[in-house]
Amino acid sequence: MIRVPHIVAHRGASIEAPENTIAAFRVAQARGVNWIECDVTLSADDQCVLIHDDTLERTTNGSGPIHHHDLATLRNLDAGAWFSDIYKGERIPTLSETLDTLAALGMGVNLEIKPSGCDAMKLAREVAREIAHRKDVPILLSSFDQDVVAIMDALCPDLDCGWLVEDIPADWKAEYARLKASALHVDHKQLTAEKCAEITGDNVPLICYTVNDPDRARDLLSWGVSSIITDNPALMTTVIPPIR
Ligand code: G3P
Ligand code: MG
Repeated sequence: MIRVPHIVAHRGASIEAPENTIAAFRVAQARGVNWIECDVTLSADDQCVLIHDDTLERTTNGSGPIHHHDLATLRNLDAGAWFSDIYKGERIPTLSETLDTLAALGMGVNLEIKPSGCDAMKLAREVAREIAHRKDVPILLSSFDQDVVAIMDALCPDLDCGWLVEDIPADWKAEYARLKASALHVDHKQLTAEKCAEITGDNVPLICYTVNDPDRARDLLSWGVSSIITDNPALMTTVIPPIR
């Protein structure tokens, strides 16, 4: 399993800057964190772009489903003004632009493959095509979509892919093995010391989201969680060394 630091900035430093933008990734690094999580999906013309929601309304000045718009249209939208005037003009990043930026900054990425209504297998193939030959950015893949997790082992055999869950299924061990996943990424609200011991006792790396309370983060790390995904890296790094 690729080495991921204790603190990973969720969608970038999303408490301080517009999520899933280059600005948010730069702020994360300025706060001393050198790994970010971000969400990748497809435009109508099958280009890999970063955005969390299925639709444009919440985080851009556009409207409608992401997958109904081609890259040129998406790139003309403002993805920063909704958050603050300071970030007016920020764009929806492409995956390749993101990887170029992270490489230049010396940062790593947990790339969440998020179909959000597009063809999941096509998304998996396009992501694999873009990242296959990139050795300049440490990458950990992840997805809630079990079909995506299962196929990434074949598409990107050199990369790890975590299985994202909200609730931990009763049969998680068998499914984890079937998917050939490399880590379990769990909503931290599902975790207790006992549950963490059960998971890590099976040598399954455990990553959790989205933790914004430093006391909770300290508990989770003491229970064997290897990385905390947080909106607020500035606060987390005041109490937890990010470990580079
Ligand atoms: O990858 C962790 C977390 O980002 C999963 O949930 O909805 O924030 O993408 P979401
Ligand atoms: Mg995500």
